[in-house]
Amino acid sequence: MKSYNFAVVGATGLVGRTFLKVMEEYQLPINELHLFASSNSKGMKLPFNGKEYEVEELKEDSFKNIDFALFSAGASVSKVWAKIASDSGALVIDNSSQWRMDEDCALIVPEINLDDYKSKSRIIANPNCSTIQSVIPLKALDREFSLKKVTFTTYQAVSGSGKKGLDDLKRCESGQKNEFYPYDISKTCIPEIDVFLDNGYSKEEMKMVNETRKILHLPDLKVSATCIRVPVPVAHGVMMQAEFNKKVTVEKARQILKDFESIKVLDDPKNHIYPVSTIARGNDFVYVGRIRQDLAVDNGLLLYSVADNVRKGAASNAVQIAKKIIAEMER
Ligand SMILES: NC(=O)c1ccc[n+]([C@@H]2O[C@H](COP(=O)([O-])OP(=O)(O)OC[C@H]3O[C@@H](n4cnc5c(N)ncnc54)[C@H](OP(=O)(O)O)[C@@H]3O)[C@@H](O)[C@H]2O)c1
Repeated sequence: MKSYNFAVVGATGLVGRTFLKVMEEYQLPINELHLFASSNSKGMKLPFNGKEYEVEELKEDSFKNIDFALFSAGASVSKVWAKIASDSGALVIDNSSQWRMDEDCALIVPEINLDDYKSKSRIIANPNCSTIQSVIPLKALDREFSLKKVTFTTYQAVSGSGKKGLDDLKRCESGQKNEFYPYDISKTCIPEIDVFLDNGYSKEEMKMVNETRKILHLPDLKVSATCIRVPVPVAHGVMMQAEFNKKVTVEKARQILKDFESIKVLDDPKNHIYPVSTIARGNDFVYVGRIRQDLAVDNGLLLYSVADNVRKGAASNAVQIAKKIIAEMER
């Protein structure tokens, strides 16, 4: 098998370090590996496959001969450098929100719409973490029952805010004052993720609305979302109220979800079997449970999904995209 030159931008961050771990696990065919971060980290060494790699600062020619560039350094870095990387010939997979709604960029969950990248530019966007773990079960159900409407309520872990979020939870747990979140995250849930917009929704909530429509190819889908930060280190929960055009039964829905790639159904609540963050942490499954008929809506289902936001919600989704594209290139 041919091997490829990879760059990781934001390699010292929470997602960046997880990229390296997941790239090892998925045994990507890597020839050269180049790691980039801010000037603060220049010269730092990070381990990969038993070797140490030095972190570099980005330069105009950093992407020369790079085949795949995985970005996780925030939207402002991606805005400038993803274009430079793709113009240099790299296929970019970007974790930030910068390119997700750009018409020229595919927004990909590999279990759903990998082929979208074929008709778009060489910058592929990785969706928002809560969106990924929601659209996978919704896609499975949409195929059978035709999705009409969905309302999300999220319970998002602090690692979704990167190192700063995890540090603030630890700081507050040790009795110190909060510095990053507006309240002591060790003692409360906070219904504020990203900035608030004029329509009363937060930017995170509107990401879920717009990205769900784009990934599912349902531009007119009725979607609404409320995003809440909770005192959990890793793995987000998303409660979904979904309404369908066709008659839906819990038994059939459960079977369809069981048969779909990447989903594990945990749904025996009387025996305390349902998705929890501690089960999802450290792996790439989307756990789905609490599946029941919505008593308030005809053809409505309630379901709850949990997934590791740093892995399936970010690094693993991007690595899975790269792995599937490489497999297609090798065919
Ligand atoms: N955390 C999640 O669950 C999650 C999920 C989905 C998407 N994302 C997205 O992934 C991205 C990274 O998130 P994270 O949680 O890993 O954040 P993080 O832990 O704060 O890491 C940020 C990374 O970006 C690097 N960086 C900052 N400024 C830079 C610059 N000017 N040039 C090059 N590198 C720079 C940092 O390098 P230094 O260490 O040198 O500062 C660090 O490696 C964000 O866009 C985020 O929205 C995160």
